[in-house]
Amino acid sequence: MVAFTFALLATTISVASKTSAADTPDLTLPPGAVYVDPLKYNVLGANYTEWRTNNSLVGFNPTHTTSPFIQVFDPSFLDITGSDATIRVVASHPGFAVAHEAPIYVPDLNVVFFASNAGGTLGYSGWYNNSVVSMINLTEVDTALAANPGGVHVSIQTLNLSDTVQMVNGGTGPFKGNLLFVTSGRALLPPSVVLVNPSPPFNTTVLLDNFYGRQFNSLNDVKILPGTDIIYFTDPSYGWLNGFRPEPMLPSQVYRFDPSTGQVQVVADQFVNPNGIAFTPDGKTAFVTDTGSGGGFLGTNQTLPATIYQYDVDPVTQSFANRRVFAYSDSGIPDGIQLDTNGNVYSGCGEGIHVWNPQGTLIGKFFINSTTPELMFTKSGLLIFDEQWIYLANIKAQGIDLSA
Ligand SMILES: *[C@@H]1O[C@H](CO)[C@@H](O)[C@H](O)[C@H]1NC(C)=O
Ligand SMILES: *[C@@H]1O[C@H](CO)[C@@H](O)[C@H](O)[C@H]1NC(C)=O
Ligand SMILES: *[C@@H]1O[C@H](CO)[C@@H](O)[C@H](O)[C@H]1NC(C)=O
Ligand SMILES: *[C@@H]1O[C@H](CO)[C@@H](O)[C@H](O)[C@H]1NC(C)=O
Ligand SMILES: *[C@@H]1O[C@H](CO)[C@@H](O)[C@H](O)[C@H]1NC(C)=O
Ligand SMILES: *[C@@H]1O[C@H](CO)[C@@H](O)[C@H](O)[C@H]1NC(C)=O
Ligand SMILES: *[C@@H]1O[C@H](CO)[C@@H](O)[C@H](O)[C@H]1NC(C)=O
Ligand SMILES: *[C@@H]1O[C@H](CO)[C@@H](O)[C@H](O)[C@H]1NC(C)=O
Repeated sequence: MVAFTFALLATTISVASKTSAADTPDLTLPPGAVYVDPLKYNVLGANYTEWRTNNSLVGFNPTHTTSPFIQVFDPSFLDITGSDATIRVVASHPGFAVAHEAPIYVPDLNVVFFASNAGGTLGYSGWYNNSVVSMINLTEVDTALAANPGGVHVSIQTLNLSDTVQMVNGGTGPFKGNLLFVTSGRALLPPSVVLVNPSPPFNTTVLLDNFYGRQFNSLNDVKILPGTDIIYFTDPSYGWLNGFRPEPMLPSQVYRFDPSTGQVQVVADQFVNPNGIAFTPDGKTAFVTDTGSGGGFLGTNQTLPATIYQYDVDPVTQSFANRRVFAYSDSGIPDGIQLDTNGNVYSGCGEGIHVWNPQGTLIGKFFINSTTPELMFTKSGLLIFDEQWIYLANIKAQGIDLSA
């Protein structure tokens, strides 16, 4: 895959209206973007030759548009992208899945931190090898893109972290100025919740590494409940399923951790494998993805969830209540999950970033044509993590404040 840019001219197309000509909007699409009107594709017919048989990374691309591109399913997606958004490569490490998950944006430094693939393909980590945490500097990205608008490859700097940090898989914050990571652990080294100084010497403090003396399975993702200092994290069995942790000894569930009192409790269960977690900015609603369909050495099982569940956060107990389906991903599994300031929900799926409006309607995708586990909003735009590549989409939407 190479750096990519679009034709500079925006395309204007007319959209057929369901009601009257007066409602017919003229959509000014970003360069290279495609409007896929669901009404045009509700019936594919017996002669259609491209039926998808599963949720693989071969996404629904009936217009055969070349990736990467912006795929619009509802005109409201253009409020998110703006009219001149492009998707460009900003950093890469071919042959190494350096940019997998755990993105943390530190606005004061204008730097994004992220972790390599723990136990997965091209991660070069496993029972015997740790994953690595790296960073890119968005000031460098902006400067480089100004000189080379087609795409750039800024340097990726690797952090030298303490050995107490094993297999970083989730991140958020800043939390009181620090990076807040969860680790999956490795071999018999315990999964943990850790703070890392975002500046040299990148020193570390472990906040939690057990549940009353029992090791967690392999912590995956973390968020802070907005307006509080309370930490929530997911604990699926991917360490075992990817061959770098012993057999799970706890159910796959979601925990609430109060670092001021040390109290840890379970707030949601009944998952196959809980993965990404996010909150609305008012802290009243939580989202947890269940990526059970992706089973590591068990392979893909399409009858298992690739589903985002939504919950009410109980105002008294702060546990999760009233689980309901928010969305099901048509491609891959919904891995990392983030919200923008208008309540739209973004998740890293099989062939790109899917975006649902607050009602759970899929309104568009950043179609990359390969698995993009995570995304992060920055001052420069939306960063998309595609293992060996990091893309930047210079969209209008902005992310919610994840710090505490
Ligand atoms: C499907 O293809 C056949 C053979 O080309 C053609 O006769 C038929 O009309 C097509 N059906 C539709 C619904 O287009
Ligand atoms: C999934 O579907 C794709 C094409 O849609 C196909 O290439 C692939 O072999 C399928 N995988 C399985 C496990 O069926
Ligand atoms: C997606 O990637 C596959 C190879 O992995 C390639 O064959 C296909 O043409 C790509 N599709 C698009 C729409 O770019
Ligand atoms: C672990 O690292 C060693 C040495 O760098 C390498 O040979 C091996 O392939 C790595 N293991 C995995 C699972 O990538
Ligand atoms: C990011 O890059 C800019 C421009 O080179 C530099 O001034 C700044 O110190 C860098 N920030 C960090 C945290 O390295
Ligand atoms: C990590 O250590 C390597 C080798 O000692 C060094 O080249 C690199 O600059 C260090 N990274 C940071 C972020 O300090
Ligand atoms: C890093 O070390 C400094 C100086 O000892 C300390 O104040 C800070 O709390 C440490 N940060 C972390 C995350 O451990
Ligand atoms: C897929 O998951 C379902 C539900 O757990 C299970 O009944 C089925 O045996 C699984 N299929 C395979 C091929 O593992």
